Amino acid sequence: TRVAIVFGGRSDEHAISCSTAASVLQAIDRDRYDVLPVGITREGHWVLVEDDAAALQIRDGRLPEVPGTGRQVMVPLGGVDHVLRVVERDGSTSELGVVDVVFPLLHGPFGEDGTIQGLLELADIRYVGCGVLASAAMMDKHVMKVLFASASLPVGPYTVITDLEWRRDRTACLDAANALSFPVFVKPARAGSSVGVYKVEAPEELEAAIEKARSHDPKVLVEEAIAGREVECGVLQGRGSDAPRISVPGEIAVVGGHEFYDFEAKYLDEGNVRITAPAAVGDEVREQMSQIARTAFEVAGCEGLARVDCFVTDSGEVLINEINTMPGFTPFSMYPQVWAASGVTYPELIDELVQLALD
Ligand code: DAL
Ligand code: MG
Repeated sequence: TRVAIVFGGRSDEHAISCSTAASVLQAIDRDRYDVLPVGITREGHWVLVEDDAAALQIRDGRLPEVPGTGRQVMVPLGGVDHVLRVVERDGSTSELGVVDVVFPLLHGPFGEDGTIQGLLELADIRYVGCGVLASAAMMDKHVMKVLFASASLPVGPYTVITDLEWRRDRTACLDAANALSFPVFVKPARAGSSVGVYKVEAPEELEAAIEKARSHDPKVLVEEAIAGREVECGVLQGRGSDAPRISVPGEIAVVGGHEFYDFEAKYLDEGNVRITAPAAVGDEVREQMSQIARTAFEVAGCEGLARVDCFVTDSGEVLINEINTMPGFTPFSMYPQVWAASGVTYPELIDELVQLALD
């Protein structure tokens, strides 16, 4: 079976995607799968990349990048027998051969948001993970919360500021945000890995934070900070099983130095973050989390995989924060760890996801 691992991409999570791909390249069963690493540069060029996991890993604070030097890869549209092509130096194209399945290991816009999923649908190439609609809806934190609320899932207090609203009546936007309890988080609607997220302690700081978040996405959310613990579950819709499986919950604790679980804490400061899987939570919380994860996966129409992030408040209430349809698979990441704690090894996880896409 030929698997194209597609990674990198135009989003701010480019380096995280490289690191995710490195981990998958290392773990995937080479006896079973013929692997084709395809990188997307920060500019959006598709290129063949060397099958070298070490070069793609985040190491010593260095963020990896897809080199723009490889041969250019093309995805022919219109169901051309699942074939990718390469553009040769003289401009001619040649076949790269049949690809049975694409594993789009992309995080953030132009990858986790339905765009590549749509491209692969048009090209009639099978791919791992969620489809167009679920990917797009779960990329947008506003649409995501609206869907969650429609299924009566517990969502924390927030307000949304669209580009139009901000430009039409900034004072009204700030008033709505000020009505929330501080501290609040200001977030771009469509981003990940805490890129462009600011914790705001007082109303005076709000406008500047919104402007900064708007440079990542003109649509911004302001959310009340939830006092409590960050607990996450993996969802895996493995082969042959109708109901998605839910992993044991895992907890993230930021143990020093960082105001919250920001980009640096996530990827550059391993020592400052502690992941505990299974999380030390009671049966009741664990059961609630499973229910929430199952319902969220379903209402979003997810397929294959997702990670569901929740807060557990001090009084034991569980709130859903978000779903990630292509959760990080880096050595720092929660998703593989909650599955390992649930008895699914990393190579098995990859195998299940690929097989599900082929079914
Ligand atoms: N957006 C990052 C990759 C995650 O959710 O793990
Ligand atoms: Mg999260």
